[in-house]
Amino acid sequence: MTDAPSGSPFGTLYSVGVGPGDPELLTLKAARILAAAPAYAYFAKRGRPSHAHAIAAGHLRPDAQALRFDYPFTTEIPVTDPRYAMGMTAFYEAASATIGAKLEEGVSVALLCEGDPFFYGSAMYVFDRLSPRFAHEVVPGITGMSGAWARACRPMTHGDDVLTVLPGTLDGATLAAKLRTTDAAVIMKVGRNLPKIRAALAESGRSDQAIYVERGTMAEERIAKLDSIADGPAPYFSLVLVPGRRGPR
Ligand SMILES: C[S@@+](CC[C@H](N)C(=O)[O-])C[C@H]1O[C@@H](n2cnc3c(N)ncnc32)[C@H](O)[C@@H]1O
Repeated sequence: MTDAPSGSPFGTLYSVGVGPGDPELLTLKAARILAAAPAYAYFAKRGRPSHAHAIAAGHLRPDAQALRFDYPFTTEIPVTDPRYAMGMTAFYEAASATIGAKLEEGVSVALLCEGDPFFYGSAMYVFDRLSPRFAHEVVPGITGMSGAWARACRPMTHGDDVLTVLPGTLDGATLAAKLRTTDAAVIMKVGRNLPKIRAALAESGRSDQAIYVERGTMAEERIAKLDSIADGPAPYFSLVLVPGRRGPR
């Protein structure tokens, strides 16, 4: 934790990882901080419940103030479209200003994040803006990928294996090149990128090892060999595991 200057009347920003879905995979530390937080904040797709909020719900104070921020868009605009960066920057500026105002009132805020907050988490964009000004603490969470490989019962890295984490949003040629040179891989952000990911796995000769995990550790979890999954878009919470070598020791 980084303390505010001594005597600071401001609240503390807690960036809290709540794990991949199974409520039992939320840490004791996260539970303690959530139970004490007078306010909490979270991001969600417009009109949809928040996954992080659902995981944390049982731990939050009934009287805690809720700050919900609806993304202006999620997959409607490609990440490469200039409007995406502009819209998201304005969104994170506004959310940070609202959270910052709460901290200035002396109210600590727990910012909920699915998985781990510093692993592709939106909480980082608030952290970047507010951590220079306010006391802050980051509570690590169990990542979606570790929840997924545990549930799939797939040991991932052995000895000096190299693990590469790849966003499925990369172009197909880059995905294939990186898959060719790594021992183990996790491909995140599958969604509508599934056909491209499948092609990159085939091109790099890794298709037969690929395991598809949808909503890992959640009630609606689905785990299967990628080869057996129909083509087409996958849900947001899905990833692909490519386990590393399995040499005996
Ligand atoms: C914006 S990233 C957030 C990652 C998160 N902070 C973490 O630590 O796992 C969202 C992507 O993580 C992956 N993901 C996260 N949790 C998952 C889960 N429970 N099951 C499958 N994929 C998951 C999916 O690929 C999803 O598109």
